[in-house]
Amino acid sequence: MSSLAAEPIITLDEVSRVYDLGKVQVPALNDVTLNVANGEFLAIVGPSGSGKSTMMNILGCLDRPTSGRYVLDGQPVDELDDDGLALVRSRSIGFVFQSYNLLPRTSALENVATPLMYQGVGRKERLRRAQSALERLGLGDRLHHIPSELSGGQQQRVGIARALVTEPALILADEPTGNLDSHSGAEVLELFGDLHALGRTIVLITHDGAVAAAADRAVHLRDGQIQEAVRE
Ligand SMILES: Nc1ncnc2c1ncn2[C@@H]1O[C@H](COP(=O)(O)OP(=O)(O)OP(=O)(O)O)[C@@H](O)[C@H]1O
Ligand SMILES: [Mg+2]
Repeated sequence: MSSLAAEPIITLDEVSRVYDLGKVQVPALNDVTLNVANGEFLAIVGPSGSGKSTMMNILGCLDRPTSGRYVLDGQPVDELDDDGLALVRSRSIGFVFQSYNLLPRTSALENVATPLMYQGVGRKERLRRAQSALERLGLGDRLHHIPSELSGGQQQRVGIARALVTEPALILADEPTGNLDSHSGAEVLELFGDLHALGRTIVLITHDGAVAAAADRAVHLRDGQIQEAVRE
């Protein structure tokens, strides 16, 4: 349906997150309002302490806002309990981490197949889909390598294959090039560009303005507040 394409994947409506340390309250996000359209490639960029990880945790359904409303892919997330959050997380979000977070003594193929287990997909089908995701990322000849037998850039591509294998509504990447040299980092950003061209929705969180430039829109966080700047 064409009307679906216009629906935002993410709606944050006056979202705040205050960390309650008993004696002090630390406001980490203040009244953040943000829409991310289906198919958009958005960077959230800000200096240390600006609220990026707090934002990532909320967008990724790892944490709930203290106040405000968060709707992800049509689902009001702020109303869910922990089980509900976990379900939305595994169904709707593909995570890409700075340190890859791969299972160490496990092949690329099994690493990529793992998220499908939580969706009840049978083993044969899991491996078939994992292989196909790895092949799409140019790792068809590395299926049975374990992470320590792969370069950093290759490990991150395994991480991206794992994020894609469930066909999530949203790819959420937290400093995905932070551990890579500039060449591998550029390759990973190019890969995100390709995925975006294929219609994927990507939110990339970074402190690095040069990395943010790979996205088609950047939102700047300062002291837990958003300052939007649209580039052409
Ligand atoms: N669990 C917590 N308890 C209390 N305060 C916290 C907690 N986590 C973060 N904060 C505070 O909230 C603010 C935002 O922190 P956050 O970790 O989101 O920043 P960041 O942009 O990810 O920084 P960095 O680039 O250094 O990772 C900071 O002032 C931080 O001290
Ligand atoms: Mg952080």
